[in-house]
Amino acid sequence: MAEQKGFTLWFTGLSGSGKTTLAKTVEQELRKRGLKVERLDGDIVRQGLTRDLSFSKEDRDKNIERVTFVAKLLTRNGVATLCSFISPYREVRARSRAEIGNFIEVYCACPLETCIERDVKGLYKKALNGEIENFTGVSDPYEPPENPEIVVHTDRETVEESTAIILRRLVELGYLEPEADEAVVYTAEEEAEIEERLRGLGYM
Ligand code: ADX
Repeated sequence: MAEQKGFTLWFTGLSGSGKTTLAKTVEQELRKRGLKVERLDGDIVRQGLTRDLSFSKEDRDKNIERVTFVAKLLTRNGVATLCSFISPYREVRARSRAEIGNFIEVYCACPLETCIERDVKGLYKKALNGEIENFTGVSDPYEPPENPEIVVHTDRETVEESTAIILRRLVELGYLEPEADEAVVYTAEEEAEIEERLRGLGYM
């Protein structure tokens, strides 16, 4: 069997946009395919490796810098590394990309209003009440990626659809072997487009 090519899947997006959920489902799928996987997640890493850091711009940058160092070591040792961090600053993500090498940026796109509605951790409520400072999307900036390899729209795709989109792109990029029996899952948008094309060809 060919040596596994290491890569880093970098999930970026607002708090509550689905980064951790998708990193977990992708992790499961990659393990099923026999890959070595490590997952680095903001909420976990901030309890250990970066517990001394706040959410100021300077500390967020340090958070990402340390995680990037770890992801680089894992990636060069053939591990599929899944990083889920808000990582709000474009320039800092670009630095991680340059440092790590096999870097695939996954933008978890989700409107702020939906994240606020979800409020999984109850933090938006506090941030909106002024109880938490520098909260991304409320009182701190988020810079969306301009050219991410993957965009998932977690407000209108199911977890399964977004997971399938990520896996399919990994196959396209040559990081993952295609599965012979892999069921193809299309998003509603893609299905509509296929239908339109078939109609145009007179098949429907
Ligand atoms: S990052 O900006 O440095 O990349 P990271 O992903 O590690 O952030 O941590 C974000 C998580 O910390 C959020 O999901 C949330 O649970 C928690 N958190 C606590 N305070 C803040 C804040 N001010 N802004 C954003 N997230 C916060």
